[in-house]
Amino acid sequence: MTEKQPFYITTPIYYPSGKLHIGSAYTTVACDVLARYKRLMGYDVFYLTGLDEHGQKIQQKAEEAGITPQKYVDGMAEEVKELWELLDISYDQFIRTTDDYHEKVVADVFERLLSQDDIYLGEYSGWYSVSDEEFFTESQLEEVFRDESGKVIGGIAPSGHEVEWVSEESYFLRLGKYADRLVEFFHAHPDFIQPDGRMNEIIKNFIEPGLEDLAVSRTSFTWGVKVPSNPKHVVYVWIDALLNYATALGYGQDDHANFDKFWNGTVFHMVGKDILRFHSIYWPIMLMMLDLKLPERLIAHGWFVMKDGKMSKSKGNVVYPEMLVERFGLDPLRYYLMRSLPVGSDGTFTPEDYVGRINYELANDLGNLLNRTVAMINKYFEGEVPVYVENVTNFDADLAAVVADSLAQYHKQMNAVDYPRALEAVWNIISRTNKYIDETAPWVLAKDDTKIDDLAAVMAHLVASLRVVAHLIQPFMMTTSNAIMEQLGLGADFDLENLDLAGLPTGIKVVTKGTPIFPRLDMDEEIAYIKEQMESGKPAIKKEWKPEEVELILNRKEIKFDDFDKLEIRVAEVKEVSKVEGSDKLLQFRLDAGDTEDRQILSGIAKFYPNEQELVGRKVQIVANLKPRKMMGRISQGMILSAEHGDQLTLLSVDPSVPNGSLIG
Ligand code: ME8
Ligand code: MG
Repeated sequence: MTEKQPFYITTPIYYPSGKLHIGSAYTTVACDVLARYKRLMGYDVFYLTGLDEHGQKIQQKAEEAGITPQKYVDGMAEEVKELWELLDISYDQFIRTTDDYHEKVVADVFERLLSQDDIYLGEYSGWYSVSDEEFFTESQLEEVFRDESGKVIGGIAPSGHEVEWVSEESYFLRLGKYADRLVEFFHAHPDFIQPDGRMNEIIKNFIEPGLEDLAVSRTSFTWGVKVPSNPKHVVYVWIDALLNYATALGYGQDDHANFDKFWNGTVFHMVGKDILRFHSIYWPIMLMMLDLKLPERLIAHGWFVMKDGKMSKSKGNVVYPEMLVERFGLDPLRYYLMRSLPVGSDGTFTPEDYVGRINYELANDLGNLLNRTVAMINKYFEGEVPVYVENVTNFDADLAAVVADSLAQYHKQMNAVDYPRALEAVWNIISRTNKYIDETAPWVLAKDDTKIDDLAAVMAHLVASLRVVAHLIQPFMMTTSNAIMEQLGLGADFDLENLDLAGLPTGIKVVTKGTPIFPRLDMDEEIAYIKEQMESGKPAIKKEWKPEEVELILNRKEIKFDDFDKLEIRVAEVKEVSKVEGSDKLLQFRLDAGDTEDRQILSGIAKFYPNEQELVGRKVQIVANLKPRKMMGRISQGMILSAEHGDQLTLLSVDPSVPNGSLIG
């Protein structure tokens, strides 16, 4: 027996920054289909997926949720694993970049690259998109904002997300030094990046203009892998993330048997087009620095978009997999995702198309073929499938030719990861077989005793053809595939490598009564269901604006930054508070604002704080450089900031850990 060939397939590791939608589901199902296909073809497959849990974006999400980043990602990891279970994803490992083994290797690799001078310390100034966790030069931005003097003060990344200015000490990865070697590799491996054409784009857009060294550490937040020799730096999240493909297999660890085996086999990465730059430039160069082999294949797929553009919560057009599976079952979702995204370009999700494909392609074309076949074999042969004999009727040869062609086409497209075309090949067989029923007209043959051999051959061809179909859809729709095999009396015994019509086993018996594998749907009702579900994901409009608030916004007086900068707002702690005799409005405060002496401020908030003593010890915000003024004969040295809401008023407090006198701005 020959040794099974190792085949390693990976999805990107997703940011757990929100609920995953059909976009991430697409990549994960696409890799699952490939993993299942390769297993059926006799490969030793290792399928990796997981989560990219570090970085500024995740830290911010956790802050918004008011929990620690660890707690936040722990919760999300559970949710994501549940989703993959729902979608029946056959991954071999689920990596989280917060896993100890991974963090340790990331730190080790960083130190190694530092010691071999592939990483050096410098200063980074430039634009950063937190949503993309990506650095941009000004010329790479989609749009820039300028102030009156023409200075660029902000901008929009190609993804549509806003960028912010980052200026901090940073480590850099010497990409420039490896640019020539990378281009050499590209030329020696023209199939490395699929679809064709992407490689030239990468060379033209990023390498020819001069490959700049990459900032690979951050100091302005803490959620990441610390650089051991300089722990105020955390490793840039993309360096951390890309290494997952190696650490998951044991790279840099005591037990690296999987790495030795699978990294030396075929390494296959599938990613979305938006992250091709990271996988085609940074990752190969990191591997060169580590003296490791480069991957065999990098597939960049397009995006699922909506009629009105990108999916976004605010538009109310986000499609989550759960609601589709709950309503229609898993197989239609896997089928739809794999059938409708053309290779290399974007595809539009529409509810009409979704329901339409279930009704026409699944229920009608495939479901009916099975129902008719099972019913006829019960009727004409008491359920017993006749032996397959070639070339009995005039139509057998053509059917067999179409099946043989489609099989070859299917394997070719599966290897090219062109699922729409692979499925088209399967549906060719299905349509040809449906047509074969009409051509042979078994109900006519059944009336003529001399035609019994023809009738038997027709039935055997139908079952043989459905058996082939059940095999070919096995990587895509496991439940349907198994159900077809079961209804035909074939059991769940798949042999995709040696598949043909003639391989139909003898002595099989179909089930007495077939059950439809796909229900026929009411188009209007189901389209309405999907639309309603998409809408319900839209965030509720939280606030009704009052006319005076609208007016305030419309008539807002713009100020220059310099004007704002003149304000000195500080943190101050309330030391004492008392009512002011003769005034039912004023409270008198003694505050420690970090000055040499406490200061006194009068504030007209008495009616909002009838138990004013509760304010003692509270840290508030004061405008510290207002010109002192007299109120009720007393001096007031500043103003305490508060927020008005409805007819309420609340003093703005500050976390007690912030020292008195801290500047706010
Ligand atoms: O980029 N249609 O994670 P991510 C198809 N953590 N694919 C889509 C899509 C859509 N509408 N929206 C997103 C990251 N994707 C990094 C990866 S790997 C070392 C680190 C795809 O969660 C997108 O193209 O932002 C990408 O391949 C994947 O989802 C993960 O995106
Ligand atoms: Mg992204």
